[in-house]
Amino acid sequence: MHSKKDSILKRWHSFRVNPKKCADKWGHQYWEEADGYRVVACKHCPSFDTQASACSINFGSPLRKCVVSSIEAHLYDCKNQDVLEVGFGRFMLARNLIKRSGGTWTGVEPKRPKDEKPEIGKGGHGSATDIPFPEQTFDKVFAVQSIEHWGQKALGFKPSSYSDCIAEIHRVLKPGGTVYLDAPIHFHGHEMFIMGDLEKIKAIFRSDQWKNVQIEKWREDCEPLEPYRPPENCLNKDWPIEITSYPEEEVTKARETGLVWMIAITAEKI
Ligand SMILES: C[S@@+](CC[C@H](N)C(=O)[O-])C[C@H]1O[C@@H](n2cnc3c(N)ncnc32)[C@H](O)[C@@H]1O
Repeated sequence: MHSKKDSILKRWHSFRVNPKKCADKWGHQYWEEADGYRVVACKHCPSFDTQASACSINFGSPLRKCVVSSIEAHLYDCKNQDVLEVGFGRFMLARNLIKRSGGTWTGVEPKRPKDEKPEIGKGGHGSATDIPFPEQTFDKVFAVQSIEHWGQKALGFKPSSYSDCIAEIHRVLKPGGTVYLDAPIHFHGHEMFIMGDLEKIKAIFRSDQWKNVQIEKWREDCEPLEPYRPPENCLNKDWPIEITSYPEEEVTKARETGLVWMIAITAEKI
């Protein structure tokens, strides 16, 4: 999955990303409402190639294909917006799309050197609990495959409290500003993501501070594509360390039947 060809295709896609094409592809309702969630079934997803019966994103794991599609769907129109990425790592797609659509990208990442101070228009050291900008700086804050790690214990992570992280994001957002956060389900990270506990995830957004909290479910209904099983190294390493507060039978069920899918959370600051 992470072959050289795969990483070249991934970089090429980020390099060529085009806001106008994304608007054409995603600028309509691409989900179906079901039980309070927005369901993006693979067979109805704009990235699904009906003729080939395959996802048209030609690189990455099944999860990364959803990540790419969801970034395209949510970030193609950032004109005149100040946008902050939390935990940016090395993936360039979102920042290229934001800049090309006329927005300003800024990033914080705990793995950057401590003396690399972020500035508007540039990435630097920071984290979800320590965003070194004044209050009401940003129109949008987003994180790609990062939130599930903020409260993680496995791999020696020092877990942060989700209420502190969301309060810090709330602080730096302007009133009416929005968040976009995507994360895998039944994969790794904090137990509520491994267990797919969407009610608990939703509850980190306080109703007196946030409105329009929406969760999209990508790939939960993956027909006719192949199901994506949680990798062995997650099942046997991360899961036993992270999962401490769910009944044994629920964990066993998730182990036996759980497939990896993705959520995209959006919300608006009151
Ligand atoms: C799986 S990587 C994803 C990186 C990149 N966003 C991508 O999609 O390729 C998770 C990222 O979250 C960052 N991260 C972990 N804990 C964090 C925290 N508490 N605050 C901000 N970022 C964090 C990690 O350093 C890492 O860059």
